[in-house]
Amino acid sequence: MLNWDDPLAGLAGTSPRLPHAASEQRSPSPALESTSPALPAEKGQGATGLESIEMGARRIRVDDKAIINCRADLNQLVPFKYRWAWQKYLDACANHWMPQEINMNADIALWKSRDGLTEDERTIIKRNLGFFSTADSLVANNLVLAVYRHITNPECRQYLLRQAFEEALHTHAYQYVVESLGLDEGEVFNMYRELPAVARKAEWALPFTQSLSDPSFRTGTPEADQRLLRDLIAFYVIFEGIFFYVGFTQILSMGRRNKMTGTAEQFQYILRDESMHMNFGIDVINQIKIENPHLWGAAFQQEIIAMLREAVDIEVQYARDTMPRGILGLNAPMFENYLKFIANRRCAQIGLPEQYPGASNPFPWMSEILDLKKEKNFFEGRVTEYQSGGALVWT
Ligand SMILES: [Fe+2]
Ligand SMILES: [Fe+2]
Repeated sequence: MLNWDDPLAGLAGTSPRLPHAASEQRSPSPALESTSPALPAEKGQGATGLESIEMGARRIRVDDKAIINCRADLNQLVPFKYRWAWQKYLDACANHWMPQEINMNADIALWKSRDGLTEDERTIIKRNLGFFSTADSLVANNLVLAVYRHITNPECRQYLLRQAFEEALHTHAYQYVVESLGLDEGEVFNMYRELPAVARKAEWALPFTQSLSDPSFRTGTPEADQRLLRDLIAFYVIFEGIFFYVGFTQILSMGRRNKMTGTAEQFQYILRDESMHMNFGIDVINQIKIENPHLWGAAFQQEIIAMLREAVDIEVQYARDTMPRGILGLNAPMFENYLKFIANRRCAQIGLPEQYPGASNPFPWMSEILDLKKEKNFFEGRVTEYQSGGALVWT
């Protein structure tokens, strides 16, 4: 029997009703500066790309383009304005991979062996599959149902479409691990509705995307544009940039100890994708700030800092919940240090002051994985070289 007792849960089998300590501060009322200038009247809400064709309209110029609230035709990819977005799309395509390419035989043998894994190690694997298997679908749904419509730039949308496919691949990878190991798929995929420790992060993120899910929501006012910016920070900087890191570190450190190496390899590919998603999101956030500086007032910055600090607390709690006794030479205080280190980095990336002076990185090997050259395959034994273009034979 696996140990499914969760000392901090207590709600297994019921729909979680988690407290929302900070939901008030995420209320629709934005923290605007009184000095914020009004948007130019001609900006207003953005196009969607589904407008009727305007015959005879003049050709698109780079200066017509804007990252939000753009009225220029969104069905024309070029001329490029944001080369970084196009480059990330190309880099992501060059990193293409599929879950079935990874050999899971050693994992299957280890999982089925009696003594190969401790109960704590099994718990960590199942909890992380439980969290990530639904988290990636939540990220994908936020992308296609909330974010995509309001990013009014074709080259950014091109990347978003690639990212959406990668999120599907990630969910596929978790399903593939579950199937390979012969786990109970209902137990894994329903875990975020049974264990509060797994539900908490999705619960935290949902209000941000729900805020945009009203079909009548439109950008084009400072309040609405801040709602979009808040959602982008919640998902790109916090969900993908903080909430994934305890789980990734736990699974990858298992792989470093030669346990569950196929699963760890799946997670390593996913981490490479996720770090690019986060970097793309940060570029989008910073571009919105450049084009709309009135959105980034002092009170709004304080609100974002509070979100980041709350997220660190939630992820530290996830580390405690998933490894109450310490495991693999890891323990919750190490993760607290690591998460503060990561949060400092996230603050710097979006132009906020450091929040945790003195935080250091206890897992330098994670940085090594993240710093690997993106355009190179970093696993040996890939069965397919997507960049070669020579795999297809037309006969
Ligand atoms: Fe993902
Ligand atoms: Fe992602």
